[in-house]
Amino acid sequence: MIDDIEKVLLSEQEITEIISRLGKQISEDYAGKNLLLVSVLKGSVIFMADLMRAITIPCKIDFMSVSSYGAGAKSSGVVKIVKDLDLNLAGYDLLLVEDILDSGNTLSYLKELLAGRSPKSIRICTFLDKPERRTADIQADYVGHIIPDAFVVGYGLDYDEHYRNLPYLGILDPKVYSK
Ligand code: IMP
Ligand code: MG
Repeated sequence: MIDDIEKVLLSEQEITEIISRLGKQISEDYAGKNLLLVSVLKGSVIFMADLMRAITIPCKIDFMSVSSYGAGAKSSGVVKIVKDLDLNLAGYDLLLVEDILDSGNTLSYLKELLAGRSPKSIRICTFLDKPERRTADIQADYVGHIIPDAFVVGYGLDYDEHYRNLPYLGILDPKVYSK
């Protein structure tokens, strides 16, 4: 598994620092609000688990699952809801927790869909942002780290469901997906 990583982009220590910065900021911004964290499975599950523990104010969580990538490394632009939320969003200050904002297709679709369910507010927190690849008109309100245009894995992010359990973030060696 380690042999497939071309370069480590974020070490465990660097990730810890990012999480604590985001947790502090979100706790300040949402004090007195009705915070609901919505994680988009599966890539953001580790980020969500760490982020929610760095948030010091009351909050609730919910999950949804969409698919856009299949087994490839390029976005298809097609977003399918695999699992919807359990909670009704009315009255919540919704914070969408995502692993990575790449083309932006997934999040712009989701944001519009969830905005239609009348939450009080809706914002986006993404662990990673790849602005060079953006095609949809969408920005995150909270960004953990801006990365260059490379395919990354680890800390929840996968290639064909592999590497999610790496505790750090690395660039996947292109030999893995050009085979
Ligand atoms: P978007 O719709 O292109 O913004 O991409 C959404 C999804 O594509 C993310 O939630 C990831 O699951 C996946 N994705 C995009 N870039 C990467 C990457 O570099 N590594 C792993 N997954 C990625
Ligand atoms: Mg994925």
